Amino acid sequence: MVHALKRLHRILDRGTKARLVILLAAIIIGSFLEMLTLALISPLVSVLMDPSIVQTNRYIAWAFVFFGFTSIHTFLATLTLVLSAMYIFRGLYLYAVIRIQYRFIALRQASLYARLLSKLLGFSYSYHARRNVADTLRVVVQDVSQLFQMIVSVLMLLTDFFVALFITVLLLIVSPLMTLMIVVLASLCVLIYLYVFRNRMQIIGEKYRDAWIGMTKSVNQGIGGIKEVKQLNREDYFYRVFKTASDVFAKMFSQQRVLNAMPRLIIESVCFGGAFTLLGVFMLGGVDIATLVPQLSLFVLAAFRLLPAVSRIAGHVNDIIFNKASVNAVYKSLFEESDPVNHEAVSDTNAFSSATREHFTEATNNITIHNIDFQYPLTHALVLENVNFIIPEKKSVAFIGSSGVGKTTIVDLILGVLTPDSGGVFYGGKSVHHNRGEWSKLVGYIPQQIYLLDESIRENVAFGIDREKIDETKIWKALEQAQLADFVRSIPDGLDTIVGDRGVRLSGGQRQRVGIARAMYEDPPILVLDEATSSLDNETEKAVMDAVMGFQGNKTMLIVAHRLSTIEHCDIVYRVEGKKITREK
Ligand SMILES: Nc1ncnc2c1ncn2[C@@H]1O[C@H](COP(=O)(O)OP(=O)(O)O)[C@@H](O)[C@H]1O
Ligand SMILES: [Mg+2]
Repeated sequence: MVHALKRLHRILDRGTKARLVILLAAIIIGSFLEMLTLALISPLVSVLMDPSIVQTNRYIAWAFVFFGFTSIHTFLATLTLVLSAMYIFRGLYLYAVIRIQYRFIALRQASLYARLLSKLLGFSYSYHARRNVADTLRVVVQDVSQLFQMIVSVLMLLTDFFVALFITVLLLIVSPLMTLMIVVLASLCVLIYLYVFRNRMQIIGEKYRDAWIGMTKSVNQGIGGIKEVKQLNREDYFYRVFKTASDVFAKMFSQQRVLNAMPRLIIESVCFGGAFTLLGVFMLGGVDIATLVPQLSLFVLAAFRLLPAVSRIAGHVNDIIFNKASVNAVYKSLFEESDPVNHEAVSDTNAFSSATREHFTEATNNITIHNIDFQYPLTHALVLENVNFIIPEKKSVAFIGSSGVGKTTIVDLILGVLTPDSGGVFYGGKSVHHNRGEWSKLVGYIPQQIYLLDESIRENVAFGIDREKIDETKIWKALEQAQLADFVRSIPDGLDTIVGDRGVRLSGGQRQRVGIARAMYEDPPILVLDEATSSLDNETEKAVMDAVMGFQGNKTMLIVAHRLSTIEHCDIVYRVEGKKITREK
């Protein structure tokens, strides 16, 4: 638990923590206020029942004289009015605190969601290639919310601790022995309970988290691949996978609730059982019942205020342990999940001989691929070994080779989404991996599978640009180049046509051409096509390639294709084979 709290301490920024302390102080003042009003009721009731108490009770007599009262009647009336004012004040105060608390927590929570997503978006492509979306979703959405539940539990834990402490001190003044007995018994119950169930609670928390991921994953996969699922008639499989996870989810949830309810039951059984047994034994032993009355009334007070506070403390500790897995996951994403990117390799320009270094710092607009070694994380098989070649400015360069030899890998390295284990890619005298922002503006990339957003064609061509900043003329120009303008003009909603999740409402060829238009939108000086036209029919492919080849001599072009006819007009042809690259043309 201490470990989780330390991590929480690191995740939260200083401002948040400072405000949490203030909030805690406000909450504690609120609970004192609550007790104060409670404490004032008892003199009122006492005086009402026996007015002579004004003379006999030390404290009441003192107050009576101090405030200069002359009649018991006005004293009582004043006391009632004071009480009523206090209740109203208490209500307003607690309202303010609750409002501040929930607004603060909700705002902080929202800002942590955003911080986490921005962090995760910053991680490399290979990092996300290794990680399931359900897992990422879980951290960004669910874990952050559970983390704040933990914060609330910590606040509540401290509040209840102070409440318990306050009542204990009060009771100790009245009857030290009896109070001590109750406190020791109740604390023992809590400690034994936590000792016995602590590990179980942690396991429940972890299993609950995993079950959530399992559920999300099977929804993603079952619905994501709905066409294949239908065709193969495998609905039942995804249902069963989901059901297994959701059963665990439900079981863990109920177990957590039951475990949380237990402290109250245990503490009350032990303390009440113990007290009444003791009472019975005293009575049997012939003790005068009248002497036991004060002890008993104290016990009732304790039962109503102290014992619930103590059992809540155990519940809060439980909640903190339960939410530990979430705090760990958020912590890992923020501080530990180091990217598998080898930044040293790309920055280590000292490793180059001075001659080659001179060559790279020379500000040509050739793309230079220098001494690249690459293997995918986790697989440990070299895909590329000591690869060197140059893509001259404004030339069209083709990459050919059989499937799986590493053409896409080379392209991804040049794009900068993959980072080489050693060596680098240079453009204009700079490493592209160190200038990702600049570099990405220069390159238009068309992959084999276009990722489409469930938005309009306009937003899919512009991709990630705010709607009001989208340039309509640039959109149409890009659509023309992608041979898609006629189609868009022919449909009723035109540019506003919503394409459906991942573009389900478009044909494969249309989807591909939206991707081509996307790459053309900014009119970049470099174009990268990775099997971009493979899924098009011959005629459309020819039209698109004619448009692309129309840039020959004006743009640098990298084209991966398996149909040789696609690349027959390229200036240079490289063959990828056996981790190496050789020039064919
Ligand atoms: N994310 C990945 N993790 C591990 N291995 C990968 C990954 N992506 C591709 N590979 C492997 O790298 C090799 C080259 O793949 P790729 O560059 O996609 O080939 P292609 O020439 O068909 O484009 C293949 O053997 C493939 O299995
Ligand atoms: Mg490929």
